[in-house]
Amino acid sequence: MTKKIVFSGMRPTGKLHLGHLVGALNNWVKLQNTHQCVYSIVDWHALMGEYENSSHIKDYVIEMALDWFACGIDPKRSIVFVQSDVPEHLELQMVLSCLTPLGWLERNPTYKEQLREITTRDLQTYAFLGYPVLQAADILLYKAHAVPIGEDQLPHLELTREIGRRFNSMYKTDLFYDCEAILTPTSRLLGLDGRKMSKSYGNTINLSDSPDEILTKVKSMITDPSRMRLKDPGHPDQCNVFAYYGAFLPDRKDEVSAWCVGATKGCTECKKILADGIIEYLRPIREEREKLAKDLSYVKEALKNGAVSARAIAVDTMSDVRKAVFR
Ligand code: TRP
Repeated sequence: MTKKIVFSGMRPTGKLHLGHLVGALNNWVKLQNTHQCVYSIVDWHALMGEYENSSHIKDYVIEMALDWFACGIDPKRSIVFVQSDVPEHLELQMVLSCLTPLGWLERNPTYKEQLREITTRDLQTYAFLGYPVLQAADILLYKAHAVPIGEDQLPHLELTREIGRRFNSMYKTDLFYDCEAILTPTSRLLGLDGRKMSKSYGNTINLSDSPDEILTKVKSMITDPSRMRLKDPGHPDQCNVFAYYGAFLPDRKDEVSAWCVGATKGCTECKKILADGIIEYLRPIREEREKLAKDLSYVKEALKNGAVSARAIAVDTMSDVRKAVFR
């Protein structure tokens, strides 16, 4: 039986951090065992938000590929490519944009939230409103069955289904079918300061951080606010440091929870153990990343080959799209 197709993408807007690893990449790596995976570094999507500062995108594309490959995304088993290397994404986006009602985009909760919250960049643009149309094109171009994404992306997936259905009914075809979300089971890790982990808050631990940087960062993490002194009993379920144990040191959870609740050992010790745990967890990733970074030709070649494979599928879909539209 042929494997079902998984598609997902990430915007190259900076180095990847632990939130990406636990929230997405670990899952993407596993899916390679059961699905034909297609993973795209979506640089056009990055441009929609970063068009005023676009000169970094090129470097971030390479950083992202290094992070992905070091984590176990395998370009021999999966199709890994850069979105702008496959022009059919923009072609399909154009066709889909013709039949996407403005109201669907204006009502999109992600759009409204970002316009409200992101004040440092001007996102009142034509392309940014159409962000989900390009995302729909990404997914539909490969006729993906499943899309691993975070919960915040669910409205975009719903729009993808609606756009695909509208295309089918308008042009009397069954070219596109509904795709389902694969939500990552693990809980989200918060940043060092207890807010959402994000580059823009400067509260991340990056996959490429050195052991010293990791130790310094973990030491700065905010713990249970009601535990000021060693003899105050702590509340592991309210402590962000403890949440990290779940992801990186599950075997030590019971032990540290007992110390914390029993107020026998302090947060400094707890953090030291966690820092060592994260450093060990990231060691193979860091080593592989350094190896790949020494000679970028492997990474560049892999992306080039990925684009050739992706394009073979994309050209095929676009040919069916043209037939359906200009029948
Ligand atoms: N919008 C996604 C994000 O910000 C990135 C993305 C672009 C994507 N195209 C996609 C994710 C297609 C899944 C499928 O995270």
